[in-house]
Amino acid sequence: MSDNNTQTTFKASGVDIRGLHKSYGDNEVLKGIDLEVKPGEVVCLIGPSGSGKSTLLRCVNLLEQPNAGVIHVGGFDATDLDVDLDKMRQKVGMVFQQFNLFPHLTVLQNCTVAQTKVLKRPAAQAKETAQKNLNRVGLGDFGDRYPDQLSGGQQQRVAIARALSMDPTLMLFDEPTSALDPETVGEVLAIMRSLAKGGMTMLVVTHEMSFAKEVADRVIFMDGGVVVEQGPAKEVIGNPQQPRTQDFLKRVLDPTHVEIAE
Ligand SMILES: Nc1ncnc2c1ncn2[C@@H]1O[C@H](COP(=O)(O)OP(=O)(O)O)[C@@H](O)[C@H]1O
Ligand SMILES: [Mg+2]
Repeated sequence: MSDNNTQTTFKASGVDIRGLHKSYGDNEVLKGIDLEVKPGEVVCLIGPSGSGKSTLLRCVNLLEQPNAGVIHVGGFDATDLDVDLDKMRQKVGMVFQQFNLFPHLTVLQNCTVAQTKVLKRPAAQAKETAQKNLNRVGLGDFGDRYPDQLSGGQQQRVAIARALSMDPTLMLFDEPTSALDPETVGEVLAIMRSLAKGGMTMLVVTHEMSFAKEVADRVIFMDGGVVVEQGPAKEVIGNPQQPRTQDFLKRVLDPTHVEIAE
């Protein structure tokens, strides 16, 4: 929970999404989404597979082009045709389920390459920033390793350090622990918890309900391309009002509970 007593470490910006529509051909995936994340707020986005969560995140930094709607992010109007996309994307850190590290680069190089290429930072400064962020994720001594010499949890922590090295004012996470061995999930969630404490604005797609309950200021349940229910975590997860939310949570909280249609 990002309470106001915590000293903030990060410069924060928010996201404001209004009337977002996105279709792939005839398949309307997002059917008019309104969603706000205030600066410093942590919002967890939950919902069944195929409900449009990844598409929504990808629209926020225009990896996907929305068909309609307005998105303000990091002080930019992302849907303005004249927006400086590179500048805007620098403000938005993204961490995916698959870590997408460059396999042929060391951990340190993974964290410096965009700083030097995109931000044009001098090599020494990029290295210093990368080292600071590797320290932050507990991998200060791993700079010379290659990704395949790390566990999945460590690779995901490098991916987080890499994103932080661009000094984002907002972080998007798309199921960052879904591809991990169970024993390494906790170390990644611990890093995310500490970012939240540091005042980072975070929009997190996750199936980790206990994380959402503990860390999220707000939880949003999406199904079929619409926001079905949202509110404080303890209400949406602890006492969901909508039947679709109730069904989903039953399945997620007890994966052995499977109803097979006859
Ligand atoms: N690049 C794409 N091209 C066509 N259809 C897509 C593409 N990406 C996603 N979809 C479709 O959009 C729907 C929502 O997908 P997605 O946003 O990945 O859902 P979620 O992340 O909630 O599982 C799915 O029906 C999926 O098949
Ligand atoms: Mg997804």
